[in-house]
Amino acid sequence: MIIARSAQELEDALKTRPGSRGFVPTMGALHIGHRTLIDAARRENECVVVSIFVNPTQFLPGEDLSKYPRREEADFKICELSGVDILFYPDVSAMYTADEIRITAPDVRGFILEGASRPGHFDGVLTVVMKLLNLVHPTRAYFGKKDAQQLALITQMVHNFFMDVEIVPMDTVRENDGLALSSRNVYLSSEERQEALKLSAALKHATKMVMQGNVKSFTIQSAMEEILAPLDVEYVAIVNRAFQSLNEVVIGDTIVLVAARVGTTRLIDNVWM
Ligand code: PAJ
Repeated sequence: MIIARSAQELEDALKTRPGSRGFVPTMGALHIGHRTLIDAARRENECVVVSIFVNPTQFLPGEDLSKYPRREEADFKICELSGVDILFYPDVSAMYTADEIRITAPDVRGFILEGASRPGHFDGVLTVVMKLLNLVHPTRAYFGKKDAQQLALITQMVHNFFMDVEIVPMDTVRENDGLALSSRNVYLSSEERQEALKLSAALKHATKMVMQGNVKSFTIQSAMEEILAPLDVEYVAIVNRAFQSLNEVVIGDTIVLVAARVGTTRLIDNVWM
């Protein structure tokens, strides 16, 4: 595995690996969710590139940028054992200069839900993903459905800017008890971890209601809010794949999303129907 720490080192490394290229951008503290994306990239491409970069521009002031988990040694090992060809591991100065042009999230889809809770977050995500895709120029780039709105906006950016890359969505990987894997789960105490199960429980209940024929968004949302009640809920939403709000679940075109705080940790989860 080649470790590249600058754009130049990455370019040199890429020259040694011709053929189709799969790319998995991450912020590190790798878990089985990330691993599933890397494994898919490994199966479907001749060369696999992973990036680990805790991107400062997607954190709002007061968010967890400084305490975001950093696990250099373990992450390198996971990449190596997963058959990654090139690990891109830049520092901030290799990615940003002063007074730069930025990508702006769309007015509607970029400023609802996660965009409303974290204004400016998606500008930072889209800007860094644009930079990373331009640096790596992959055949395919892999993103998790866990971050559904991020995935939708990246897919839209690639479309709007006529970028030549296939965005591959990957299912959310969960613990046996339902908790969606997240690098931020390490912030949870064991009691909070139990509380956090309410997110997946509420989504599971929504799925059950739909299977029983209860497709009214309002009814589903109320039932979910009851399950989530002890938590500090930021939103429960039922939208289509274009992130337009739905009055009724449409099978094949619905995402049910939830964001809530467990203690001081902000968690998101969703289910695609
Ligand atoms: P990060 O949170 O490290 O996630 C990297 C990728 O792993 C994202 O595509 C995310 O959706 C996916 N992922 C996270 N948890 C997952 C799970 N439980 N199951 C499946 N996939 C999962 O998302 C980011 O980093 C950043 O915003 C980034 C895109 C790298 C830009 O900085």
